Amino acid sequence: MADLKVGVIGCGGHAQGHFAMIKDEPRMQLISVAEIDDQRLERAKLNHEPESAFSDYREMLDQVDLDVVYIVTMPGHLLPIVVECLGRDLHTSVEKSPGMNVGETQQMLDAARKSKGKAILSVNRRYKPEVLAVRKLLQERGGAVQVAANYHKPPSGLQVPGRKEVAPPEIICDAIHHVDLLRWMAGRAPTEAATAVEVYGHSWHGKRGGTPRYNAVIAFDNGCRGTMMSHYGVGYRIQSAEVHTEDMSAYLDLTRVPKITLYLDGALCEEPLDLDAVGGPDFNETRHFADCILNDTTPWSPLEEAVKTMELCEAIERGHRGRL
Ligand SMILES: NC(=O)c1ccc[n+]([C@@H]2O[C@H](COP(=O)([O-])OP(=O)(O)OC[C@H]3O[C@@H](n4cnc5c(N)ncnc54)[C@H](O)[C@@H]3O)[C@@H](O)[C@H]2O)c1
Repeated sequence: MADLKVGVIGCGGHAQGHFAMIKDEPRMQLISVAEIDDQRLERAKLNHEPESAFSDYREMLDQVDLDVVYIVTMPGHLLPIVVECLGRDLHTSVEKSPGMNVGETQQMLDAARKSKGKAILSVNRRYKPEVLAVRKLLQERGGAVQVAANYHKPPSGLQVPGRKEVAPPEIICDAIHHVDLLRWMAGRAPTEAATAVEVYGHSWHGKRGGTPRYNAVIAFDNGCRGTMMSHYGVGYRIQSAEVHTEDMSAYLDLTRVPKITLYLDGALCEEPLDLDAVGGPDFNETRHFADCILNDTTPWSPLEEAVKTMELCEAIERGHRGRL
């Protein structure tokens, strides 16, 4: 038996990625699943072979002895489930966005502060080995001076009847990944992200439904400055970032498998990134969560961090201009 017995709540599209990471983590074992949709529950039983399966997650929590729970529902369904799991002192992975708004994230944080379980926000970009390796180089050179991120997609389809009740606006529900990445890349210590103190946001809509556009200029508490651009409606999924510090620039193409172009001391760096120095090429959020639980350390994306990233997303969404 592995060290950590795992349950998954919500077995839709994105849960398949979590199932794969749990399977690849030798210290975790999938024990049980919960899903309200009968077909998805059957598919999860067939594909992932848990010992038990439930349509009511509370029955799973009552009947199965679990250490860790992954909650992979849409944002509008998360809050009561997260609060229940943390209330039962389970280690809890929370999907992004952590609720519909920062008020819900704060309620999750309040539950986490009373819990013996650890909580991690599943912002998986923080845990990509290439991101960690670039970040390490930045920090060795004093930390990022400027960070920039792009997050573009086709029309989202999130704000239609039936979806918008459980999905906040795109910058919160989805482009949150790169808002959070800006904070993470701007951080000056291995386990710390920077906090936004000033933001000049633009938030507007195209003529077609589901095509919001966002621009933002951000100042962080450590002096780093950031810019962000996001457009739903470009027809393709494009995700990138760039970071600059003294005698170093890195361009991160995160659209598919990460591709990094690095310039050090005035020249293109042909050496591959040292991924072994940041946990190896297979490092991911699941491995990190197992490390944190078994070594009693704090995850790099706890709910305190989730509140800060949600506050910044909401500021950009409302076109806030000035100090936060
Ligand atoms: N990190 C990423 O790259 C990434 C990518 C895609 C989606 N996501 C996030 O993952 C989450 C899920 O997205 P998805 O595309 O898998 O959605 P989905 O609708 O395919 O899956 C969610 C599942 O949760 C189930 N569910 C809802 N309430 C439940 C409950 N009380 N008990 C048990 N099951 C319940 C639904 O029936 C559904 O099957 C969203 O929050 C989304 O933002 C993250």
